[in-house]
Amino acid sequence: MISVTSPLQGKRIVLGVTGGVAAFKACFLARELQRQGATVQVVMTEAATHFIGPASFQALTGQPVYVDQWDARVPNNMAHIDLSRGADLILIAPASADIMAKLAQGLAPDLLTTLCLARECPLALAPAMNRQMWAHPATQRNAAQLQKDGVLLLGPGDGEQACGETGDGRMWEPEDIVEALQSYFTPKSLAGKRTLITAGPTFEPIDPVRGITNHSSGKMGFALAQACARAGAKVTLIAGPVSLPTPAGALRIDVMSAQQMNDAVHAVLDESSARFDLFIAVAAVADWGVANPSIEKIKKSSADDNGPSLQFKQNPDILASVAKRSDHPFCVGFAAESESLAANAHAKRARKGIPLLVANYGPQTFGRDDNELLVVDDLGQEKHLARASKTLLARQLVELIAQAMNRC
Ligand code: CTP
Repeated sequence: MISVTSPLQGKRIVLGVTGGVAAFKACFLARELQRQGATVQVVMTEAATHFIGPASFQALTGQPVYVDQWDARVPNNMAHIDLSRGADLILIAPASADIMAKLAQGLAPDLLTTLCLARECPLALAPAMNRQMWAHPATQRNAAQLQKDGVLLLGPGDGEQACGETGDGRMWEPEDIVEALQSYFTPKSLAGKRTLITAGPTFEPIDPVRGITNHSSGKMGFALAQACARAGAKVTLIAGPVSLPTPAGALRIDVMSAQQMNDAVHAVLDESSARFDLFIAVAAVADWGVANPSIEKIKKSSADDNGPSLQFKQNPDILASVAKRSDHPFCVGFAAESESLAANAHAKRARKGIPLLVANYGPQTFGRDDNELLVVDDLGQEKHLARASKTLLARQLVELIAQAMNRC
């Protein structure tokens, strides 16, 4: 059964907040975790309350916030057991040098450290401190010890610090922490799989300033690159001209024309020290390129009233050529069709010589954030994926691809 929600949906997260300027970022973090479907229980250290009030977190999470180990609201005085009971994760963000030292030593002088010591769930820390505190041998020793103890360290990053200095020690941005947790909670169905993905449109030059392209936004391909990386794949993403951010963990190669995309794909496959396991061709590749592009900009005066005459040449079919390689990975194609979706999808899958093809009614979906898909395979099976965000569809596709790869 394919999960249709965020990997954080339904997760119970205890968000620990310690004393540091970055404590304000924990508000955004709490909100983002909830947006992903998690429930958030905030526990603060006393020092944290000097930076931000418990009322802010209470308002954001709709849950009472705990600071004191002897809080009278916990009838059995067992806050350290009650608060983390059934939790999927304790996340401390920001995590100060002080709490890292205490946790590394197994000390439990307050509620948050006691919760960590008494927990049954994983613990993640997003360190935040001045760069010298982070670089201090004691902090480095503590960080190493915590990792040895199985604690997940998210960061720190480098950059400008509240103290005016620049360096390592800055807390990761809330969206980066959420991304890391989404990865953490995603089943590793593509663990270690070398995966190559094409995405976006291509751009066929007419002259140095003009060209022919299409409406592909690259959103589906980028969402798949992200979903594959979260599922444990080693992702190389070859992208046509789009301005989307590179998904965390993916290695990106930017190209313009179909020929460049083709050359980049085969170069990656040729130069790899080990065979690629999976190729997903999501790009909307131009079938024809201009055979006679002008080196100089074509001047209006140089053409008659009908405009310049362009000749076209057929571009290589990247997907079909990868499928024909002797070292071919498991190939997945996409098809945007304007009619007879299922029939065209089956025919195209067979024509390209690939085991799996994902079809959709293309012209209406270009640029949108959602879609509806039909997946057809070499056993003649069809699987309909109902309308959903491209992010969610990407996760569903990863599961289907992993299942199909396993039966090959
Ligand atoms: N594709 C490719 N190289 C091309 C054209 C298409 O790799 N030159 C890939 C696309 O990335 C997609 C699949 O082939 O995964 C199907 O693309 P599509 O344009 O629908 O297929 P065509 O073979 O061009 O068929 P049609 O005549 O329907 O355009």
